Amino acid sequence: MHISIVGTGSALPQKAVSNDDLSRTLDTSDAWIYSRTGIRYRHIAGPEETFATLGEKAARDAMTAAGVRPEEVGLIIAATATAGNVTPSSACLVQARIGVPRAVCFDLNAACSGFLYALRTAEALMRSGVAGTALILGGEILSHFLDWNDRSTCVLFGDAVGAVVLRASEDPDAGDILGTVLAADGSQGACLTGRSDPDNHYLHMDGQQVFRFAVRTVPEVIEEVLRQTKTEKEQVRYYVLHQANARIIDAAARRMQEPLEKFPMNMERTANTSAASIPILLDEMARGGKISRGDRLVLAGFGGGLTWGASVVRW
Ligand SMILES: CC(C)(COP(=O)(O)OP(=O)(O)OC[C@H]1O[C@@H](n2cnc3c(N)ncnc32)[C@H](O)[C@@H]1OP(=O)(O)O)[C@@H](O)C(=O)NCCC(=O)NCCS
Repeated sequence: MHISIVGTGSALPQKAVSNDDLSRTLDTSDAWIYSRTGIRYRHIAGPEETFATLGEKAARDAMTAAGVRPEEVGLIIAATATAGNVTPSSACLVQARIGVPRAVCFDLNAACSGFLYALRTAEALMRSGVAGTALILGGEILSHFLDWNDRSTCVLFGDAVGAVVLRASEDPDAGDILGTVLAADGSQGACLTGRSDPDNHYLHMDGQQVFRFAVRTVPEVIEEVLRQTKTEKEQVRYYVLHQANARIIDAAARRMQEPLEKFPMNMERTANTSAASIPILLDEMARGGKISRGDRLVLAGFGGGLTWGASVVRW
């Protein structure tokens, strides 16, 4: 059985905030932020914009692209670390909005690696017969967890939701998830934390430690998944990496001795959207005609937990 990505969608809040906008209230500058991160804008959710409203748009776009009707969806997983509710889950909230009558729905938190964890979970459930068609959402309303007076964290993140539709198929020409490696090391978790405690819910980060973790781990996990799937680097069309920071991606490309052109980036316009970053970049690439049927992509994520992972996908 093949499990292929058959549709993508994404939704960004309406309000875009530039580095220059931030520098009006914060001791920072466009030059500092852009040179250290590659980020110029982030989208910030307004009071009416939630995971559910953005998720509805992303899901509808992905289902339209896939040609899938709501009744066909049997599984919805929402990867998010910033769910607004204890219950209902974000997956159930989106389910209700898009009119999926009956499905297995739940949320999963693996921070910035959440999309890859959800992709692997959905794949396993589909291979075991739970659903033939699944919707995966990855998204965050991170702005609610940022201290807007802390220049070392608030400039880095943004809000967004991305979605993909997966379909199980026996067609030998269908796309597939060829292999995935996931991992976590909770003993390093203290370098990137955010709590649900209302008195202390801001994101805290040791930027340099996270930076060092990412530039070491991302190439390692990619090499591991390439070996596991017997994929040569020449076969990889694109490396679609979590969009935390352009310098992390530059460093990973250099370590892997792969040309930077194979590493698409959009964090300049979105900042780090955690679990949303891979699906919204995939959506942009699919809609921009950058990916063709049969292309091999490596998806790789890393972040809070610490968690990380990589998948090889045939489009
Ligand atoms: C956050 C990051 C950009 C900081 O860059 P850095 O070069 O390590 O900067 P430092 O933290 O050493 O800070 C250097 C100086 O810049 C200052 N600074 C921090 N944020 C600033 C900002 N937004 N604007 C201006 N100055 C800033 C610091 O206060 C410090 O000043 P000091 O030397 O007077 O104390 C970098 O560590 C990074 O990209 N880390 C990875 C973060 C990440 O991607 N996390 C998410 C993973 S999912």
